[in-house]
Amino acid sequence: MSAHTPYIALSAFDIVALTLVIGPLATLLWIVPQDAREAFQARLWRLTGAALFVLTLSSIALLVGRTVEMSRQGLGKVAHWLPLVLRETPFGHVWLLRPIMLVMAWAVWFIGRNLERRRAAAAFLFATTAVIAFTRSATGHPADQGSWTLPEWVDWAHLVSVSVWAGVVFTMSIAIFPRLSRERLSPSVRADFIARLSSVATAALICILVTGVLSAYHYIGTLAALRTSTYGHILLVKLALVAVAVALGAANRFLFVPRIRAGAATAGRRPLRPPGTDERALGLLMRSTGIETLFLLATLAAAAVLLHGMPPREMDHAMGGAMARAPRPAHPAGARRVTLRRTLTHRPQLQRLISTVRYGVLPTRTSAPETLRPRRSATIKVWL
Ligand code: HEM
Repeated sequence: MSAHTPYIALSAFDIVALTLVIGPLATLLWIVPQDAREAFQARLWRLTGAALFVLTLSSIALLVGRTVEMSRQGLGKVAHWLPLVLRETPFGHVWLLRPIMLVMAWAVWFIGRNLERRRAAAAFLFATTAVIAFTRSATGHPADQGSWTLPEWVDWAHLVSVSVWAGVVFTMSIAIFPRLSRERLSPSVRADFIARLSSVATAALICILVTGVLSAYHYIGTLAALRTSTYGHILLVKLALVAVAVALGAANRFLFVPRIRAGAATAGRRPLRPPGTDERALGLLMRSTGIETLFLLATLAAAAVLLHGMPPREMDHAMGGAMARAPRPAHPAGARRVTLRRTLTHRPQLQRLISTVRYGVLPTRTSAPETLRPRRSATIKVWL
């Protein structure tokens, strides 16, 4: 087991928690037809509450994990380092948005137990969860060029659309499909349900593919780097898993959904297809969605591995040299001085240094970067 494995597991846990919250909300807002609301709303709201609990746990676990990762001092010293991480590191500052959003989300979830306010509550909860998703983008690789940059927004759009696609697929598998046959819904309402699921998943998938390709180009740049770097290999594994999930989604959309709709359209009239086609297609759709769920979970795990890898474009960077020159004490404490070569002294590179710090390699703050520009080399103060 690599030293990174626990942190990768924590990232995967946090990403899955996000999708578990977004899934029932998206289902409630865009997929459940009006005539099926009574049958499913309460169940979806309970699922949202359970998922919110998981997201609360994952947020705490993420903070503890990053503190251990940054301090390299083990779990026993977390209480000592945690206030420092919150006060002094960019990760800590961004993470502080989470408790604020979570308190608001819990308050809104309680308000949403009242049926009349539920849809408004669901929309608000979706927005707070999207802000929590942003805290991931603002503390990962996309933040390497500073705050509020385009890569950060692209990553955020990727993560939110991933959460919608994977989330609705998980929700259908966990909460909807097991009850769909038992609920007394008319064939047309059922067909509408499935058609809406298919449309939402397709829209989310288009956004995922566009933003995924943009991010991949940003981090990798060339096909050669995709073939030769570890980061590229992990991305290829992820793409293989995505391809299977997309193929299953396409089978749902182009094979099973039309059959379910055709069955509904002919219900009560002379059927164009043999009776029972609708039920058979629904059964196949449920099975295919179950398998899609497994592949999406594997894709999310692969994404978590990717987040802890070193993108080729960052690796190219002279940063490696600077890090080798920087003294790295086994038990960091206090301020120390690090010498950077001139090539590293303009702002974007320095931002990378700060960002690399988020991964626990180097410390958290540097003295004013502007003062570095004119000189061939400079000594800056860093806080460990
Ligand atoms: C064309 C398809 C896709 C490509 C090229 C792609 C590429 C990428 C890249 C380059 C990243 C950035 C990783 C980093 O920060 O180092 C990323 C992040 C991620 N991807 Fe994808 N991806 C694709 C589809 C998907 C799909 C289908 C899923 C899941 C269903 C997914 C889930 C994720 C997640 C969860 C993240 C992490 C976002 C975060 O926490 O900030 N991706 N993807």
